Amino acid sequence: MIYLDHNATTPVHPDVVEALLPFLTEKFGNPSSIHWAGRAVKGAVEEARERVAHLVGCEPGEVVFTASGTEADNMAIKGVAAALADRGNHIVATRVEHPAVVNALLHLERLGCTVTWLDVDGDGVLDPDRLEGAITDRTILVCAMAANNETGVLFPLREIGAIAARRKVYLHCDAVQAAGKISLGFRESGIALLALSGHKLNAPKGVGALVIRRGVKCHPLIHGGAQERNRRGGTENVAGIVAFGAACEIAAATMAGEMARLKRLRDRLEEGILALVPGARVNGSRERRLPTTTNISFAGVEADSLLMALDLAGIAASSGSACSSGTLKLSPVLAAMGIAPEVARGSVRFSLGRGNTEGEIDRVLEVLPGIVARMRRGGDGS
Ligand SMILES: Cc1ncc(COP(=O)(O)O)c(C=O)c1O
Repeated sequence: MIYLDHNATTPVHPDVVEALLPFLTEKFGNPSSIHWAGRAVKGAVEEARERVAHLVGCEPGEVVFTASGTEADNMAIKGVAAALADRGNHIVATRVEHPAVVNALLHLERLGCTVTWLDVDGDGVLDPDRLEGAITDRTILVCAMAANNETGVLFPLREIGAIAARRKVYLHCDAVQAAGKISLGFRESGIALLALSGHKLNAPKGVGALVIRRGVKCHPLIHGGAQERNRRGGTENVAGIVAFGAACEIAAATMAGEMARLKRLRDRLEEGILALVPGARVNGSRERRLPTTTNISFAGVEADSLLMALDLAGIAASSGSACSSGTLKLSPVLAAMGIAPEVARGSVRFSLGRGNTEGEIDRVLEVLPGIVARMRRGGDGS
């Protein structure tokens, strides 16, 4: 079995499993309890906070643990809109944000906020001048992701952060796909809020974090007890948080070597496909991109059929388009890049991660060209 869908989720690292297990057994206390059982886990939560902060380049006190990247995005967007309602109700966002951002913004639009949606260029990159032009004196927030989940394309965050700082608006950055893969440098970047998710970097599902720069105004999304310094009610997912911290520590320690290795594998896969499959093309910038991701269109082939054939060969990959009740919904990300529907329809995302080997890449290169050729001979590609 070959897993090339790490942007969807990643396997939990064995060291992470080892770190979390005691918190499902003997270390069962509630971190809010002041007795021995609580104290034993409170320290572990704070240690995890330090590890997340170290990976991101922020202070531990700026990390708020959440249940997911989706919750972190929602908290940032709805929390800032609520906190700054008296200052303005205009938000600027790119058209290629994850649904966790897009749908939170659509919700705010229904409540009376105005959102300006920014196009990206054919490479999937945002032009900072376009952003500057969209900011008004009613703007409170800019949403720009660090790395796109479908293409891996990176936004020029330093430039975007500098514009946001100069125009005195908050920048919310969805760094769910970027964390652990590229250096984020939160402190220097001008980012006010940053969303993270554990399961994208070898921690379990059900834990994430929102980093809120000191002094930034953001109301809670979940009201309850005084957990997370009154920013997120609810007894903490201690095992998940400890695991997230352990995964961040591993990512920080191994990022440089591991990303160089995965980039070599990704390039081997991509170059192999381009050489062996006529009409294959890469979507998005090939320079400004995560080292782990490639999004490739196979002309004349339906991505869903190709993915099914790959699955039968034991290869897991994915597409940005979802086929529901016979209608193919094309990827909004590829559409925003101006990619023609017939090209987008045949686009497949391969996303690499820690377990992948050269032998696996070579196996994909062995079977994929034949599958595509067979589908094209079949006529309709489906
Ligand atoms: C860019 C991006 N943001 C947010 C999310 C949501 O994260 P979670 O699955 O933790 O809710 C994802 C997950 O696919 C993502 O890729």
